[in-house]
Amino acid sequence: MKEQIEKVKAQLLQEADAINDAKSMEDFRVRYLGKKGHVTELFRGLGQVEPQQRPEIGKLLNELRSLAEQAIAEKKSRYSAASREDQIDLTLPGRIPRIGRKHPVTLVREEIKTIFERLGFAVADGPEVETDYYNFEALNIPKTHPARDMQDTLYISEELVLRTHTSPVQIRTMLNQKPPVRIIAPGRVYRRDTPDASHSPFFHQVEGLCVDENVTMGDLKAVLSVFAQQLFHKKDLRARFRPSFFPFTEPSAEMDIWWESSRGGRWMELLGCGMVHPNVLEGVGIDPERYSGWAFGMGIDRIALNKYGISDIRTLFDNDMRVLRQF
Ligand code: PHE
Repeated sequence: MKEQIEKVKAQLLQEADAINDAKSMEDFRVRYLGKKGHVTELFRGLGQVEPQQRPEIGKLLNELRSLAEQAIAEKKSRYSAASREDQIDLTLPGRIPRIGRKHPVTLVREEIKTIFERLGFAVADGPEVETDYYNFEALNIPKTHPARDMQDTLYISEELVLRTHTSPVQIRTMLNQKPPVRIIAPGRVYRRDTPDASHSPFFHQVEGLCVDENVTMGDLKAVLSVFAQQLFHKKDLRARFRPSFFPFTEPSAEMDIWWESSRGGRWMELLGCGMVHPNVLEGVGIDPERYSGWAFGMGIDRIALNKYGISDIRTLFDNDMRVLRQF
């Protein structure tokens, strides 16, 4: 028995030295300490040893087992952590992180913003949940006015609405700032519309407002014409102004641009505009005898649809990555 123990010990020490990775370490453990391992087998033989010799042999066996355990413990620090590294294939190409893109509506809004900033306009902002006062009353649309029918409003309460246009930002701005005022106000607006290819219950507008002394409709036409030329990158862009009606502008107009596509050309409505109504100026404490102003409101979504050749407005809001990745 002693001889056997010596033999196993010599072999064990030699093999412990040869451990050089997680696998050889595990093999070593099984070979010596596993159910059928050499050390385990020797322990099993202890029963056949003469009772007087048992304590001595038992001691030797215990020492042998510790030796195996020590060998494993020593290598473990080196190879168990390394074993994970072994499985990392450093030659694999990296996973490219997916980088977000700007939404088509964002792209158009930023382009509009850039053009107006160059023309000296600042960017203003207002809440999407608006009071009836800012959304309607202050814009010369009293409670009983039939013009309210033009905009199917989503009411939060008697007094609170989801703003139906960005025009309330005109009021908020003029209450905070005396002329000269030159701002644009991009943002989301809401109307009680059933979604289809050309309607969405929410969409995006940019409001524009310019108030100063001696501001005329000629300024309105000049600024908006230059703006449209720059937005569509077309120096000879054709535009026309048609008479229209808005309670908060007088006179009012719609601006159309000539839109060429592969299917031919057509007039496309770009925005509503007009000279700020004297009642609106008076309501915010600006003297309409001294100051005048012009304003416009423009839908961004339709421009994005035309610009990128998208036929259904819902495509913009579905957040389908297959679509959005294309921009
Ligand atoms: N607020 C109007 C609309 O949503 C557009 C508009 C803005 C018209 C400013 C004139 C002046 O239809």
